Amino acid sequence: MRTHKCGELNTQQLDQTVSICGWVHRRRDHGGVIFIDLRDRAGLVQVVVDPDVADVFATAESVRSEYVLQITGLVRHRPEGTVNANMHSGAIEILAKNIVVLNESETPPFPVESDIEVNEELRLRYRYIDLRRTVMQEKMKVRRDVTRVLRNFLDDNEFFEIETPYLTKATPEGARDYIVPSRTHENSFFALPQSPQLYKQMLMVAGMDRYYQVVRCFRDEDLRADRQPEFTQLDIETSFMDENEIMHIMEEMIRQLFIKVIGVNLGDKFPRISHQEAVSRYGVDRPDLRIPLELVDIAEDMKDVDFKVFSAPANDPKGRVVAMRVPGAGELSRKDIDALTKYVSIYGARGLAYIKVNDLAAGVDGLQSPIVKFAPAEVWDSVLAKTGAQNGDLIFFGADKASIVNEAMGALRVKLGHDLNLLEGDWKPVWVIDFPMFDWDEKSNRFNAIHHPFTAPSCSVEELVANPGAALSRAYDLVLNGTEVGGGSIRINRTAMQQTVFEILGIGEDEAREKFGFLLDALKYGAPPHGGLAFGLDRLVMLMTGSTSIRDVIAFPKTQSAACPLVSAPAVVTDEQLKELGIRLIKPAGKEKN
Ligand code: AMO
Ligand code: AMP
Repeated sequence: MRTHKCGELNTQQLDQTVSICGWVHRRRDHGGVIFIDLRDRAGLVQVVVDPDVADVFATAESVRSEYVLQITGLVRHRPEGTVNANMHSGAIEILAKNIVVLNESETPPFPVESDIEVNEELRLRYRYIDLRRTVMQEKMKVRRDVTRVLRNFLDDNEFFEIETPYLTKATPEGARDYIVPSRTHENSFFALPQSPQLYKQMLMVAGMDRYYQVVRCFRDEDLRADRQPEFTQLDIETSFMDENEIMHIMEEMIRQLFIKVIGVNLGDKFPRISHQEAVSRYGVDRPDLRIPLELVDIAEDMKDVDFKVFSAPANDPKGRVVAMRVPGAGELSRKDIDALTKYVSIYGARGLAYIKVNDLAAGVDGLQSPIVKFAPAEVWDSVLAKTGAQNGDLIFFGADKASIVNEAMGALRVKLGHDLNLLEGDWKPVWVIDFPMFDWDEKSNRFNAIHHPFTAPSCSVEELVANPGAALSRAYDLVLNGTEVGGGSIRINRTAMQQTVFEILGIGEDEAREKFGFLLDALKYGAPPHGGLAFGLDRLVMLMTGSTSIRDVIAFPKTQSAACPLVSAPAVVTDEQLKELGIRLIKPAGKEKN
């Protein structure tokens, strides 16, 4: 139907007769001449329709935005003064000889322009129109480029792409499962995989050596800007590689990815930071290293001060007291500080003490603060020295349970970094390593796996049993600009260790057999040392395209309430279907109000 794409045309086709197909981006009538900007995936081209060919002109007069046309015409120079240097086809135009209307279009619910402010629900309902916008087409292109570069790298490095089932059994990754009733097995359900974790381990036991898959994962969890209920992982597993070898090859892959797709060099070697250091300095396990602000422990200084808010957590083993110096923020107003106090309260902070450093030379008199009066001058001297405070700085304080201080001050650090334009550099990758194996869940009084229950500890069975809370794992996360883009670990490959970890997690022998019997069996048949990781593909593309939400880089994402407005899913099913599945609803459709 066409000889060229619209956006491809330029002076190379001068004087040729070409045929193009696309959508009417804009039609302008200019005193007897009609201009049509025709758009396809490659971009726009300007078509000119002269009135001398009456029927072609009449067709041109009838078309409206988003009509689909086939146009045949002559490529010619644009008249002087009308060349558009910002367009690939900006030096030429097509003089139309024939126009065929391939289809008409109703007025779209919103304009097909890149910079529009449209309600997201509406965009998702008419996603096929939303995706016509150049910004969205570009994001999809980056996504295509990303998977292509990753696949090429992995193919070159002898990874096999192998598919694993979607109808499977629960794979614990810390979220709720999506379950699918089985018709052929009464009262039984499949679970959609939260990740292919156990299948990829089986592939290593099967001698596949190196596996990857661009794979959908399903997690029924609270949604955020960087989370979707179904999302895509680049999932990877290797045999006979230790964590350093895995991090090394993956780092090379990500480095090449950024260079090839967006021309960004992420640097020679990604820094590594222990989980403990990340939390201590930045309050979080996924630090944004572009932000030059740090939390500094000052509990030692606050143990004896006459201010319970500080002295109580300073003396509590589970408490934490920190100071965070913000260079040049002394100009923040009382109102600004009140707003920040409100902000940290979202994270449970009960206040946000501060000191404005007006004049260091004047000692305590040079400090402006509601809390200076509570402690002697030596205390503040020590705090100023530890934080490296300068005149004009503002120091914020957090004091509470360590978890609250970390969350609140960690979030404040990120907010101030952005609000005050403190970001240094555009891209800061970092590996976070040496995670604890478990964290203690106060509510249910038991240990949880920090990564997943198949992650190997860096100690022996005996050491693990003696002190599970102190054990470190052989896990690693790749964090980019404060977003966790990937994570993985060396896995347990011996039955005794796997059973021990299940026991520590409170998974008894019977439950372990029922849920993971196949794994425990497989480990008995020569399971090689193995490990791997998974990247959040949507998150990577989100960062690479500068998008604020992963919904923008997924063709058909779900809303915040985990629904698809395009096809109206989820939806009710017929009584017939329910009957076949042996399911009776507690609140049948349409009867909720009874
Ligand atoms: P994990 O649960 O850390 O590890 O997931 C790996 C990466 O997937 C991305 N991710 C998500 N992206 C969008 N929406 C979500 N709801 C979501 N959840 C996770 C993140 C994360 O770093 N099986 C292990 C990997 C392994 O050990 O090999 C796993 O799934 O970028
Ligand atoms: P108060 O004496 O309660 O008015 O508190 C004095 C200052 O300490 C105020 O600036 C509060 O915002 C701040 N503050 C109170 N509780 C905390 C806390 N847990 N962490 C940090 N600052 C706090």
